[in-house]
Amino acid sequence: MIHLDLKNIPDLSLEGKNLPKLLGDIHTRDQGFYSVIDDEKLLKKIEAFVDQIKGKYKNIVVLGIGGSALGTIAIKDCLSNFFVQSFPQLHVLENIDPQFLHEAIEAFDIEQTLFIVISKSGGTAETLSQFALFRNEVEKSGHNLQDHFVVITGNKGLLREQTIALNLPTFNVPENVGGRFSVLTAVGLLPAALIGIDIRALIQGAQTMREAFVSEDIDRNLPFQLASVQFLCSKKGQSQNVLMPYATKLRTFSAWFAQLLAESTGKVDRKGHHVGLTPIPALGVTDQHSQFQLFAQGPNDKLILFLTIKNHGKPLPIPITQDHNKVNFLKNKTFADLLDAEQRATADTLAEVGRPNLTIEIDQLDAEHLGQLFLLFEGATAFLGEFMNINAFNQPGVERSKELTREYLS
Ligand code: PA5
Repeated sequence: MIHLDLKNIPDLSLEGKNLPKLLGDIHTRDQGFYSVIDDEKLLKKIEAFVDQIKGKYKNIVVLGIGGSALGTIAIKDCLSNFFVQSFPQLHVLENIDPQFLHEAIEAFDIEQTLFIVISKSGGTAETLSQFALFRNEVEKSGHNLQDHFVVITGNKGLLREQTIALNLPTFNVPENVGGRFSVLTAVGLLPAALIGIDIRALIQGAQTMREAFVSEDIDRNLPFQLASVQFLCSKKGQSQNVLMPYATKLRTFSAWFAQLLAESTGKVDRKGHHVGLTPIPALGVTDQHSQFQLFAQGPNDKLILFLTIKNHGKPLPIPITQDHNKVNFLKNKTFADLLDAEQRATADTLAEVGRPNLTIEIDQLDAEHLGQLFLLFEGATAFLGEFMNINAFNQPGVERSKELTREYLS
C-alpha cells in the first residue's frame, strides 16, 4: 500500500473543485492509461512472445525516446539487480549521439541481439534513424530482419507501414494512450517481460491504484490528494516539484516522472496563460549533500516529494564496533535505520523553515508497488490537467520541434 504524509501543506479543500465532477471531466477526455491495464490479451501475447524467443538472444536493445524509453529504464533499474547483468541484457538507446551509437554497434553481436523499435507516432526522427542504422547492420550481417526486430507502434504512421512491408512482429500502442502514459502498454511491458520481470504484478499494482484514482472519496483518492497538494503549492508560488526517492533503484523513476510532469503541465491554458510545474529529479540521501542546501534555504518555490520505502528487505547492520562518541549513534543500527533517520531529518529540516513537503511511502520496492506508483503519478497528472485548465495529454511544443527538425533537414 501507499501512504501520504504531509508537512506544511495548504488545506486540501479546493474551492469550487468537486471530485465527482473532476472524475467525470477526466472520463470525457477518453484517455486509456487507466483502462489499458485490463488488456489480458496483450499480457498473453507478450508471454507467448517471451516463450517463443527464450534463450535465443543475449541482448535486447530498445530503440525509442521519451515516453517510449523512460518507463522501461525505470522498470529495469527498479526491479532488476543493478550489478548483475540479466540474461538477456536490456539496453535502452534513447539518444542519437553518434559516439554512443558507434559504441553500441561495436558492442552488440547481431546474431544474439533483438531490437525493439518503439514509437507511438511512428514518425519520430530519432527512432526512425536508429531503426535505419540497425536495420542496415542486420542486413549487412546477412541475418533476417524478422528474427532481429520487433516493433511497438500505433496504428498509423511510417513505422507501421514499414513494419507491414517488412513483415516484422508487432505490438500496438493504443491510440488513446499518450507516449508518456504508455509504460503499462506493450511499450514498457514487453521489454520488462523479456528480462523476467513480473508484469502481471506491475499490472495488479496499477489496478489497485486505479481503484483509488476513480474513487469519489477524497480520503481514498491518493492521485487526487497528490495533485491537490501540487496545485495548491503552485498557487502559493511553489511550482517546482522535487521528486526525491530514498532508493537508488528509483533514481530513474524520477526521470520518468520529470517527463510526465513537464510535458503534461507545461502549456498555454484555456485562458491563454503560460503555466507549468517544473520537475526536479533528486535522490536521497545523495542529494542531501548536493541540491538539498538549495531546497532548504534557497527560494521558497519548491514542493518536495519524498518517496520512501517502509520495508527495505533483509537487514544490513552497520558493523561499527569501535567506541567513539562520534560514531556511537550508529552502533547496533542498520543501513535502513540510517536511511530512514536521514529522510525524516531532511523532511523536518524543511518543515522547520516552512517548506512544504510530502512523503509518499510504499511498503516495499517490488513490481506491484512500482505499478501503483506509475498509476499514482499518472492519475495525479490527469487531475492537474483539470485544476490547471489545460490539456495534459498533448505536447504541441514537442511536436513543433519535431516539425522544424524535418524542415531543417529537408
Ligand atoms: O509523451 C509523448 O508523447 C512524447 O514524449 C513521446 O513519448 C516522444 O516524443 C516519442 O514519441 P514516439 O513514441 O511517437 O516516437
